[in-house]
Amino acid sequence: MDLGIAGRKAIVCASSRGLGKACARALAEAGCDVVVNGRDSARLDATAQEIAKATGVKVTAVAADLSTPEGQAKLLAACPDPDILVNNNGGPPLRDFRELTRQQMLDGVIANMVVGIELIQKTIGSMTERRFGRIVNITSGSVKMPLAGLDLSSGARAGLTAFLAGVARTVADKNVTINHILPGAFDTDRLQGTLKKAADAKGVTIEEAAKQRAAGIPARRFGQPEEFGAACAFLCSAHAGYITGQNLLIDGGTFNGAF
Ligand SMILES: NC(=O)c1ccc[n+]([C@@H]2O[C@H](COP(=O)([O-])OP(=O)(O)OC[C@H]3O[C@@H](n4cnc5c(N)ncnc54)[C@H](OP(=O)(O)O)[C@@H]3O)[C@@H](O)[C@H]2O)c1
Repeated sequence: MDLGIAGRKAIVCASSRGLGKACARALAEAGCDVVVNGRDSARLDATAQEIAKATGVKVTAVAADLSTPEGQAKLLAACPDPDILVNNNGGPPLRDFRELTRQQMLDGVIANMVVGIELIQKTIGSMTERRFGRIVNITSGSVKMPLAGLDLSSGARAGLTAFLAGVARTVADKNVTINHILPGAFDTDRLQGTLKKAADAKGVTIEEAAKQRAAGIPARRFGQPEEFGAACAFLCSAHAGYITGQNLLIDGGTFNGAF
């Protein structure tokens, strides 16, 4: 399918690896010029080169910490008027909620709620003026289904979702959409990190921990980042203008509910 977005400008936050990278790659394959981002500039540059070589589009690498105003300014200076914004950021580490300090809670809310809203504040005006905008927020399946130790992540992302539910309805008539994709277990570095922790806690190998985790997923496997990127690119496509304010759960059937 031609997604109808060739030549569009996309910012994909936190995209030097994992789900963000897969979204940047899928948008580049659809012909968008993309801005990729991460804090580690060596890894980011390698990703930018890889995507540019594979797709032939313009790929701009912006090494910056999104959680800071300076980092956001640097990102937006590279692409002040994006047509497409994919909000993503690192997630907080697994932690018992009793151990969270006030500052850690505030940092978590900033990273997984406030940053996304700030970037939307700064880009949505030009999207509505141009009568085209696609905003996708990478949140988590934990917004719908709690995960022990990820309470801060779940709460901050649910806050983002609720905040933007109203905003989405105010820009729908300008062909600007705001949607969320909720990943279940996807095979990225972050998942490998949580599998290592689980393996250490249970005294088993990482392979065994992975087998046990996958056994609890109806699809009996982890998601591949490319599958995630393809869904994101569709939500950013010209064809998805009537889809807004939605939460797309991609979890191999893990959330056990009819709706
Ligand atoms: N994978 C899963 O199964 C899964 C499930 C549910 C939710 N999620 C959530 O989905 C998001 C992406 O997950 P992932 O698995 O792709 O993670 P990942 O493999 O750890 O990749 C995270 C990306 O974010 C960048 N990043 C982190 N903090 C940043 C910051 N402050 N500023 C700019 N870039 C930053 C990282 O680059 P640098 O480290 O170089 O900055 C990297 O490119 C996370 O919020 C995660 O919690 C993932």
